[in-house]
Amino acid sequence: MELKNVILEKKGNVATVTINRPKALNALNSDTLKDIDAVLENLELDNEIYVVILTGAGDKAFVAGADISEMKDLNEEEGIAFGTLGNNVFRRLENLNKPVIAAIPGFALGGGCELAMACDIRIASEKAKFGQPEAGLGITPGFGGTQRLPRIVGEGKAKELIYTCDIIKADEALRIGLVNKVVAPEVLMDEAVAMATKIASNAPIAVKLCKDAINRGMQVGIDEAIVIEAEDFGKCFSSEDQKEGMTAFMEKRAKNFQNK
Ligand code: CAA
Repeated sequence: MELKNVILEKKGNVATVTINRPKALNALNSDTLKDIDAVLENLELDNEIYVVILTGAGDKAFVAGADISEMKDLNEEEGIAFGTLGNNVFRRLENLNKPVIAAIPGFALGGGCELAMACDIRIASEKAKFGQPEAGLGITPGFGGTQRLPRIVGEGKAKELIYTCDIIKADEALRIGLVNKVVAPEVLMDEAVAMATKIASNAPIAVKLCKDAINRGMQVGIDEAIVIEAEDFGKCFSSEDQKEGMTAFMEKRAKNFQNK
């Protein structure tokens, strides 16, 4: 796998994916989107990786948006193609068969805020800033912002942020539920690794099925959603880790999950 703008590191059961274009504040051009896609394909197939951390290189930005220099001269057809590329990659990220934690050191604007929202959990540095500045550039959010932001913070707040292009600080992002946690900049990655390690200590198949049930269930009515939950709940009972988890509880000993 040859990557231009993304770094993939694996340690134990946790992988860290770093968007690495710090001179452009990690802006997402087509090459970077393709790199993320290639990394996701690798991670999907890696049974040793239980949790992924996604971050941006440098201390200034997570991702400052889609690459404006690449978008500037697009026509309508090319705009649809660029939006579709980003949306396909972000949907793949959202549906990855393991949880993804966004560790957000700085700017998460436009496509950067959208990238963070496609992750399962967001941890922000106190220095992070969020917003959807697209309307100020003459476009709509194009990598899922019009859809995921209202789902996360509610329709009224999403409309306010998208129409005004306001940039909000980490404490406000926490207050409106856009991020899970705000931490000091110097402990951002430690906090992300600690949460990833805690998640990785639980049964990976069960965690994967929790993600599946939440993601699929949130898109349908409650009657259909509880059927999805029942199916995923049932699938757990064909895993060795379910037997191990419950046997360890009964025997009052530490559990030893094998991702089987
Ligand atoms: N695309 C391309 N290049 C970008 C970029 C972007 N989104 N954001 C920053 N950069 C580049 C700058 O052009 C600059 O490059 P040069 O050094 O070559 O001039 C470099 O990164 C550093 O940026 P600044 O000098 O602007 O840094 P700053 O500290 O003064 O400002 C900032 C930081 C407020 C984040 C500012 O860079 C900014 O406003 N960036 C654009 C944010 C934005 O509008 N994002 C939305 C993009 S549209 C989108 O994402 C569409 C979609 O939904 C798919």
